Formats: sequence, C-alpha cells, structure tokens
Amino acid sequence: MSWSPNSWRDFPIKQQPTYEDLELLKQVETTLAGYPPLIFAGEARNLKAKLAKVSKGEAFLLQGGDCAESFNTFNAGNIQNLYKLILQMAVIMTFSGEKPVVKVGRLAGQFAKPRSSDFETIDGVSLPSYRGDIVNDIGFNKSSRMPDPKKLLQAYNQSSATLNLVRAFSRGGFADLNEVHRWNLSFIKNNPIGLKYEELSDKISKSMKFIESCGINAQNTPQLHQTTLYTSHEALLLNYEEALTRKDSITGDWYDCSAHMLWIGDRTRDLNEAHIEFFRGIKNPIGCKVGPSMKEDELIKLIDKLNPENEEGRLNLIVRMGANKVAEKYPNLLKRVKEEGRSVVWSCDPMHGNVEKSSTGYKTRDFDNILKEVQQFFQIHKAEGTIAGGIHLEMTGDNVTECTGSQSCAITDEDLGSRYHTQCDPRLNANQALELAFMISDTLKR
Ligand code: PEP
Ligand code: CO
Repeated sequence: MSWSPNSWRDFPIKQQPTYEDLELLKQVETTLAGYPPLIFAGEARNLKAKLAKVSKGEAFLLQGGDCAESFNTFNAGNIQNLYKLILQMAVIMTFSGEKPVVKVGRLAGQFAKPRSSDFETIDGVSLPSYRGDIVNDIGFNKSSRMPDPKKLLQAYNQSSATLNLVRAFSRGGFADLNEVHRWNLSFIKNNPIGLKYEELSDKISKSMKFIESCGINAQNTPQLHQTTLYTSHEALLLNYEEALTRKDSITGDWYDCSAHMLWIGDRTRDLNEAHIEFFRGIKNPIGCKVGPSMKEDELIKLIDKLNPENEEGRLNLIVRMGANKVAEKYPNLLKRVKEEGRSVVWSCDPMHGNVEKSSTGYKTRDFDNILKEVQQFFQIHKAEGTIAGGIHLEMTGDNVTECTGSQSCAITDEDLGSRYHTQCDPRLNANQALELAFMISDTLKR
C-alpha cells in the first residue's frame, strides 16, 4: 500500500481540534513545511541503534519529562532542572545497574494532549477542552479555548529553542562526568535522597580521578565530557507532524523531523485510523502506548503494521496498565509477542494507569502505586525471561507537589495545593523521580 506524509488524511482520526479559520490553518502548515527540520535523520538512526541494544538488554531506556510543556513557563531554569534530573537518574542507573542508559526527554515538542472529553463543563458552562498550548489556552473562557493555528508556529519555535539549549548542555561541558556534584538540585541537596546522590557522586568522582591517572580524561575521551539527550513527544497533531516530515537525502526515506522519537497515545492507536497510517511510513524509532484495553491479536497486528520488517530498535511498546491491572493484563501480551518472535522494546509507564482524585480535589497519582507498577513490570519480565527495557515518566526537575507519597518527601492530599503547577497530569518531582531511580538501579543490579 502506498504511503505519503499526507496519506493519513484519508483515514478517520481522533482527538483533533476543530479550527474555525481553515485558511489560516493551511497557511500555517505551509509555513511550517518551509521551516528547517528540528532533527537530522542520522540522529534518529543513532537512537534506533541504541534502542536495538535496549531490546537485547544491553542498555536501559529512560524517557521522561513534562506531561505537557507550556508557553508560560518556558525558561532556561526549567529546562536546566529537567536536564539535570535526567542526568542524575541516568548516572544512578548506570553506576549501579552497570548498563548504559539511553536518555530520551519528553521535551522540545511535547505540547498536544488527548482528552477524555471534547468539552469541559463548569457551573453549567460548556467550552472546548484544553488540548495543550499548541492548540488553545488553559483559561476557562470562550476566546482562550478557541483553537488557534498560529500556536503551531509558537510550539515549533519553543521546541527549537529548547532543543538548542539541550544540545548546548550536551556538548558544551555541562554533562561532563566530572560535574556530577553540580547536577544535584539545590532544593534536595540536604535531604536523604540528595545526600544519597552526593554519596554516589563521591564514588563517581573517585573513579574519575582513578581513570584520569591512568591517562583517560575528558580531553582524549569525549564520552566523559559529552552526552546525548534525544527528544520525543506524542505525535497527536498529524498536520504538524506532516509539515515536519522530510525525505532524508542520504537514504531517500521519510523521517518525522519534529523529534528523534515519536509515540502514539493509547487513545489514538486504532488499527484502521490515521495515526497508525502516518507512523507506518516514517522511519524514526517510534513508540505506542499499550493500555488495559489492548487485546493479544490486536497487538500482533499493530506490531506488524508498524514494524513489518521486525527491525530491532524500531518499536517501543510503552505499557501503562495501572498498578492494579498490570499483573492481570500484561503477562499474556508479553508471552504472545515472545512466542511470535517479534522484536520490541518494552518499557513501563507507571503514570497513566494510576491517576486518581485526591480527597482535596486534585488530579494526582500516588507514589506507592507508581512504585508497585514498576516493581510488577520487572517481576513479570523476570518470570517470562524477557527484557524489561525501560521506564517512561512524567516528571519535572522542579519542586512541585503533584503526586502524593514517597519516602523522601511524603506529600499528603493536603500538601498538593501548595505547588501544583502542571498544565495537565501530575508529575513526579525531582525527589520522587530520584527515589524511583535508586529503586530501579537496585533492581537492575539484581
Ligand atoms: C501521555 O503520555 O501523556 C498520555 C496521554 O498517555 P496515554 O496515551 O498512555 O494516555
Ligand atoms: Co500525561
């Protein structure tokens, strides 16, 4: 079946905004199609090669970042804090897990959100739901909620600036392993998790001194001085993705150059709909969320549509069942994929199946449930003799109070209101994310 960057337009599609000014939308799409790509196809191929290692258990995937990036809180501090947190988690897992960690941010393009309802009703007033800053504004009034095509351009520009800073950090010395102490975030430095991290960075610094005295240093070994943080987002708005899809001059293949990796959400993965059509034609490494409604036959069909050549590192299945469903739903899917010999990267998203409402009215997730889902994910893989490849998290390097629980900061329902800043879903704060990273590193070691 033939494919082109716009062939998805012939298929039914879910979770799209309804724009009023279609002429303006068309203009914006044309403008975007003339803008430079944000990534280069060769980088996407490098990531695919690293994910192939993950699929064989030779590396571990850490994917994380905002639920939804925002236009209002766009600044260097936020990006730097998330970058630091990802580096901290990666060294924790590399040092004890003794495996390289492939780092993929939910950033530089993670704007569009699927919603459970097209409308939101407050005090009898119904308005279109907020779908992320790339679509409309979060404020609850008619003009804010009106989808505005020009926001696609703002999202592109913000993604480009974010990626620029990330590349500067990765290449310019910020990620140098001699700097591990400096990544510790100021607000956690003196609490138990911050101190545990300090202990680990002391050990790393000692190892660095040792290898340096053996003649290996940041000058002659760039791996010690530089790193790569890949970008990813849910490719929900296919008109945006189409405009950034370009033919690679080296291979002649199509790549979606809005990010290194794209994924399909749990609500838009219907086999006969537009998202699957679009994704089958791009050569990037891709992900697909797998929630509790997934059937075994359906999963095999989905894998075969998205990865017909069974290429290693191409497809990441991001499992998000919920702590109380994963033991019942996951093993049969895993067994079936194993029996059929399909190569995939399995990762665990312990966030999206564990949303609840707190007694104080906030949308939250309890750290205990998150931990339980991750632990079960590892146990299930151990029992099957398969590879638990990675983790997919909504998290921030800022000191927020959005998810309850954890040993290190013990957030209660009453605490949630004090720093609840998310645009959409509750994120782990830096403390909670590091606590989880230490737990995973112990598991990887075992
Ligand atoms: C998300 O990752 O933000 C998301 C909406 O996830 P899911 O598609 O799994 O619900
Ligand atoms: Co989310």
